[in-house]
Amino acid sequence: MKDLKHPDEDLETNVLSDQNLYSALDRFWHPVMYSSELPADRPVGAVLLEERIVLARLEGEVQVFRDLCPHRGTALSLGWVEDDCLRCAYHGWKYGADGRCTEIPARFGIEIPPKAQLKQYRAAEQAGLIWVCLADAPEYPVPEFPYFEDPSYRFIQVDEYEWECSAQRRVENYVDMAHFAWVHDGVLGDSAHPEVPDHDVWREGGELRFGNPRMSEPATSGKNKSLPINSDTSEVDVSIDYRLFMPFTVLLDQWIQVLEQRYLLFFSVCPTGPTTCKSFTLMGRDYSFGKETDQEMLDFNDLVIGQDRPIVQSQRPEELPVDLTAEIQIRGADRICVEYRRWLREIAFASD
Ligand code: FES
Ligand SMILES: [Fe+2]
Repeated sequence: MKDLKHPDEDLETNVLSDQNLYSALDRFWHPVMYSSELPADRPVGAVLLEERIVLARLEGEVQVFRDLCPHRGTALSLGWVEDDCLRCAYHGWKYGADGRCTEIPARFGIEIPPKAQLKQYRAAEQAGLIWVCLADAPEYPVPEFPYFEDPSYRFIQVDEYEWECSAQRRVENYVDMAHFAWVHDGVLGDSAHPEVPDHDVWREGGELRFGNPRMSEPATSGKNKSLPINSDTSEVDVSIDYRLFMPFTVLLDQWIQVLEQRYLLFFSVCPTGPTTCKSFTLMGRDYSFGKETDQEMLDFNDLVIGQDRPIVQSQRPEELPVDLTAEIQIRGADRICVEYRRWLREIAFASD
């Protein structure tokens, strides 16, 4: 990170800082699609920070380019993969894995103009997702998902979904524990016990960590009903370790105490634009590998995000204010959100 500036807290500066945050986001890795969504034989388009990009598997690796053929501005995502090259659908120009044009079929044998070269971006494939960074030097590594290769876990992929809100509003909602008792009463929380448990919050490398809050969840919820516990048990005690990989990825590692088993959520949000985002979720568990449990968990996730969506999409401004005084913060209860916003603010002011 560059040295932080220390701007005044006036309104003009804070409006500027929200814009600064958006323009700083190109220095981070963001997920743009699941690995399973990119076949070997054709390119697929995506949008990251309003930039239209095209992904293709060339020479054994995912390559990412601006989705624009420099000949006539056609989207290369309309083309196809041929001999480890990307072929434009309009006049058939062919581009290699390094983005250079290798063939202009209308005039075979001519010298290829040096400008016939695609704008290329950094790409990585990890944890079942394809990640892209639009800047040359990513600020932090690609977020890690330590259990993903472990065969004692079963993982399911939740269909990605798009919301009309900023990625930072979406992520803050995901880690805000004070809303469980209200938005998810009887599902993730209990309105008779709305207190947020004490928890520590600290930084570790590029991660915001939340120390082990213990929570009780309804035993009958879709997420818990496949657990082999007594039917007269009404609550399941869990301890949760959160890792928030800045700025938009969360690994929730939930330890189910009575069973000594683990439930995992790997959640990452792509900022498609300043007030739009796309969410990707992988759910993991080391118990009940059956398809019925898969479906229960997917239904449960649908229920939870259906409850969150109208709340988050109603928030104004759509961008999360990086000025801590713009909204009201409650000591203890809003601690995670405060620390998250503080860090986003630093990212905003470290931008050019
Ligand atoms: S626009 Fe792509 S080859 Fe002409
Ligand atoms: Fe929620």
